[in-house]
Amino acid sequence: MRIAVFSTKPYDVKYLAQASGDTHELAFFDARLSLDTVPLAAGAQVICPFVNDDLSEPVIAALADGGVKLIALRSAGFNHVDLAAADKAGIVVARVPAYSPHAVAEHSVAMMLTLNRKTHRAYNGVREGNFALDGLLGFDLHAKTVGIVGTGQIGAVVARILNGFGCCLLAHDPVQNPACEALGVRYVGLDELFGLSDVITLQCPLTPQTHHLIDAVAIAKMKRGVMLINTSRGAVVDTGAMIGGLKSGVIGSVGLDVYEEEADLFFQDLSNSFISDDLFARLLTFPNVLITGHQGFFTHEALTAIAEMTIANVTGFQRDGEPLYRVPGASDR
Ligand code: NAI
Repeated sequence: MRIAVFSTKPYDVKYLAQASGDTHELAFFDARLSLDTVPLAAGAQVICPFVNDDLSEPVIAALADGGVKLIALRSAGFNHVDLAAADKAGIVVARVPAYSPHAVAEHSVAMMLTLNRKTHRAYNGVREGNFALDGLLGFDLHAKTVGIVGTGQIGAVVARILNGFGCCLLAHDPVQNPACEALGVRYVGLDELFGLSDVITLQCPLTPQTHHLIDAVAIAKMKRGVMLINTSRGAVVDTGAMIGGLKSGVIGSVGLDVYEEEADLFFQDLSNSFISDDLFARLLTFPNVLITGHQGFFTHEALTAIAEMTIANVTGFQRDGEPLYRVPGASDR
């Protein structure tokens, strides 16, 4: 099948071409998918978008008009797809549900360790000949309470790693994970998690229920000096409220791999330009805020699995009319 790949980076070409071999015809486009770039999909039965591509109703309708039958997401999250519009247009949506929970979980923990021991600042200081320790004081993670919001595949790996550090683990999730319970993770209500946690890490999907889960009301319930990590989706956090929390000192440090308005920033080199997003620019002024540009998934193992599952979704769809990992339509929910 012909697959139009949007938001292509050099690593996408390498891994997808390797996984596909001669099986499918891949057409790579640097452009993000939008109403303006839909014509690039001409002649393709499948499109392969990434997390910041536009999959709203008008774009999906235009894709269907052009003969697209399958949206093969190369991501786990599908919050950016209008599933009702896909149903209506008769387009099947597939995703890669679990490519490497370790990649994202390890990135969450890397952010905790960096923020705590300030290795990002120490690295720069030492290169400038500054070996003073002032400003670098951290704490033992051992025996600290970490609250994990969402204990699916990624949250469960975070729990396992932090269990190794000797942390006391709390979790909130409508579905309790037996693997986490076996580790001694205690499931609590959100308010209790907010009130007791020294570190809060968000590992849940973005849904209507989790949109702005961390807002001013939630922050007011948190322990003073709490560390907040978000490697899930930007809009789980109300950015303005988080900045308020940082300014008041309730939030002691923040690690973000995702940002509410990341679509116009991340995955691009803007170093010769300027940042027009004032909230994001404000975040960059805090020494206790660490931001990475949505790189949680970015490991060799994860890219290999993403490419293989994406191609397997297309092959399954071509063979049986059914991808390997279909996202249930809006009407099935
Ligand atoms: P998963 O589906 O295995 O687990 C998600 C968990 O969140 C489930 O246990 C679910 O019950 C829980 N959940 C749902 N609503 C909740 C709520 N209101 N409060 C608390 N928990 C809730 O998904 P997985 O693989 O663990 O991924 C989680 C999210 O991580 C993805 O949806 C995606 O947004 C994000 N992600 C980020 C990446 C990155 O590169 N930074 C890469 C991959 C995923």
